[in-house]
Amino acid sequence: MRSTFFIATLITSASAFAQADLAGAPDLAKASGCYSCHANGEKVVGPAFAAIADKYATEKDAAASLAQSIQNGSKGKWGRIPMPAHPSLSTADLKTLSTWVLTVKP
Ligand code: HEC
Repeated sequence: MRSTFFIATLITSASAFAQADLAGAPDLAKASGCYSCHANGEKVVGPAFAAIADKYATEKDAAASLAQSIQNGSKGKWGRIPMPAHPSLSTADLKTLSTWVLTVKP
């Protein structure tokens, strides 16, 4: 009984943390210039964030591989236009952005 309560509390606080962590992500994306090439629901220069979330929905470790793409740049996965590297983003910001992109709905 007590341990059930403990686990429930743990799960609740973990998801509250994840939400709080991602709440600032859209502003971070704006400040980082992501929206000059991306939009949530439609292709601009780069693919829609919702399309990216859809493509990697079932892929384990998707956030880690997207963080790599954002940091080092990406080409050939979505078309002929490459994404430039973003070497100045911190590891924490890369994690926030890549985790958040995977939650964007069309
Ligand atoms: C100069 C335009 C440009 C900017 C700025 C840009 N992107 Fe991209 N992004 C692209 C293009 C083009 C692609 C498709 C690359 C490809 O085909 O591999 C892409 C692909 C992606 C992908 C998918 C990568 C993959 O592995 O499939 C993610 C995630 C992403 N961008 C997130 C971001 C975030 C977050 C930022 C802001 C830090 C950002 N992008 C800024 C143009 C841009």
